[in-house]
Amino acid sequence: MSAKHNIIHLVFSVNSCHNTSMLSLSTKQTLITLSTILILFFALGFSLYSLTTPDQLFKTQIIGQYLGKLAYLLLFLTLLPGIAKRLSLFPILVRTLMPLRRQLGNAMYIIGLAHWIVIDLTPRLATYTFPYRYLTPTQLAGLILLLTLLPLFLTSNDRSLRLLKKTWSRLHKLVYLGLVFLLLHLIFQASGWSLPLAAFLFLEIISYTKSILARSSSNQ
Ligand code: HEM
Repeated sequence: MSAKHNIIHLVFSVNSCHNTSMLSLSTKQTLITLSTILILFFALGFSLYSLTTPDQLFKTQIIGQYLGKLAYLLLFLTLLPGIAKRLSLFPILVRTLMPLRRQLGNAMYIIGLAHWIVIDLTPRLATYTFPYRYLTPTQLAGLILLLTLLPLFLTSNDRSLRLLKKTWSRLHKLVYLGLVFLLLHLIFQASGWSLPLAAFLFLEIISYTKSILARSSSNQ
């Protein structure tokens, strides 16, 4: 479906609903995609503005941090339904978030990229320190995180799913490696946001152990 058709579809389906919880699945998916594109344009526009107005460069730190936190929350939302499903908890949450996982995951990647552009690339371009001469552990973990999630972002579509078959789900397990690099990214900057993430990783391990045990006992 073209972008124009998507917007027309979105306007009509929003108008036909009196309650936001009655939004159709495709409307929710389109809303997430459109919001992501808007945020990306905002981030790119802000970066260009900062490059042409160097006395405003200090703002890149604040805006960049907000974008990083948004990407972090989106990663939580992408992985939460899987954990809840494996632990047989919160069925409403599973039903609501599961069909939106792909859009949430793509939004996470694009906003993570925007976070890097604003917080790191823009100040470097402004101060002529790009390409990198050295990397701090925080930056290194952040860049490895973006690289780890790149194949997932590129294959988050029906065509790749059809072509890759079983390899697709194996490839998408890379998200757990991504979680580890995100944890390192946050630990290296002594961020309090590393604590909920560590708890989240723990829940991932518990839920996987539970589903492996359930599978092996049903095979016996
Ligand atoms: C998907 C990828 C990424 C995510 C989800 C992410 C997430 C975050 C989050 C949540 C914060 C805020 C921590 C806090 O305020 O306590 C943050 C800060 C930061 N990130 Fe990232 N990040 C990513 C990639 C990167 C990359 C690639 C770089 C640079 C190479 C980077 C550089 C930074 C810097 C410099 C800070 C601020 C540190 C400070 O305030 O002193 N991030 N990131």
